[in-house]
Amino acid sequence: MPTKSIIYHGDSHRLTVEMKTPTPLILGIESSCDDTSAAVLNGVSVLSNVIAGQSVHEAYGGVVPELASRAHQQNIIPVIDKALKDAGVDKEQLHAIAFTRGPGLLGSLLVGISFAKAMSLGLRIPLLEVDHLQAHVLAHFLQDPNWQHQPPEFPFLCLTVSGGHTQIVLVKSHFDMEIVGKTIDDAAGEAFDKAAKVMGLTYPGGPVIDRLAQDGDSKAFSFAKPNIPNLDYSFSGLKTSFLYFLRDQMAHTPDFIETHKADLCASLQSTIVEILMAKFEKAIRQYPVNDIAIAGGVSANSVLRNSLTALGEKINKKTHLLPLRYTTDNAAMIAVSGFFKYQNGMITNQLAKPYSRQQR
Ligand code: KG4
Ligand code: ZN
Repeated sequence: MPTKSIIYHGDSHRLTVEMKTPTPLILGIESSCDDTSAAVLNGVSVLSNVIAGQSVHEAYGGVVPELASRAHQQNIIPVIDKALKDAGVDKEQLHAIAFTRGPGLLGSLLVGISFAKAMSLGLRIPLLEVDHLQAHVLAHFLQDPNWQHQPPEFPFLCLTVSGGHTQIVLVKSHFDMEIVGKTIDDAAGEAFDKAAKVMGLTYPGGPVIDRLAQDGDSKAFSFAKPNIPNLDYSFSGLKTSFLYFLRDQMAHTPDFIETHKADLCASLQSTIVEILMAKFEKAIRQYPVNDIAIAGGVSANSVLRNSLTALGEKINKKTHLLPLRYTTDNAAMIAVSGFFKYQNGMITNQLAKPYSRQQR
């Protein structure tokens, strides 16, 4: 059978039209950082999306790569098993397997990639490689019964904000994405996580700061904002400014953090969001788009979400927010990206290697 013979060679191959199913059952596997996730989609419709986090990193205030790979190894079989069961799909029914190739931690990526390759060989179905950052954007094309929405129309601008990346992307088609601005140092999520660590909060710090900030005054303190040309970002100055401010305050008030936690969180959060939105607004004025979106873990942030909605109303653009479950790392976004590759016959093979840094 032709479908069985094309997937194992070293060259890139294309599925021919007659081999494709219009709404294939695709298993997605995500293991780029510290979440092991598997999802089953029927076309773009989510049938299941299982995510196993790794609490082992909490004690270290950040992800420990070696521990992450080990946890992926332990989690991957039960997570995939649960995703198939939740979807009511037998593995023999799958049409293709999509996996995250990068960017991410190499040891973590290898667990998902090796598993996907073995499964594709065993089931004799095509393998689809997915870029994690493109997948964060393409999460906007998912459909699920608990999310009523219209996907963004091309071209649109997406602010992708995660633990490792911060970038403004001009999305011209599913796979034609131009990065028009990016951070020159830390990512926005890193700024949240590092500030949280300094305040003695648990990892990941973003959601904790978001929660504590609800009782705080966002104008209580002010921190340095970067002055970077064009559409690029910088967060390392803010981190230093926050650190020095705390050091100075604690020199005469040792319990300063404890007694001002909510105000510190609210002020830091609003500074990060203002930095993010100022450049995003600049980009929107520069590129003629009707639709604007945010994606990635930090797009779960309540203040950032409200700011995007307010901006959309102010400048009359259609705004797109993801349900929280599709903001942070998840395999549904990997599977939907795989689906678009499947539709375009863009299949990969057993020689696919992980990459740690963004390939563009
Ligand atoms: O996309 P993601 O799950 O992983 C990466 O690809 O990096 O993003 C994780 C980041 C972490 O830095 C975490 O602190 C941040 O997303 N995050 C938040 C919120 N929820 C997650 N940051 C601010 N507010 C939140 N509610
Ligand atoms: Zn991510």
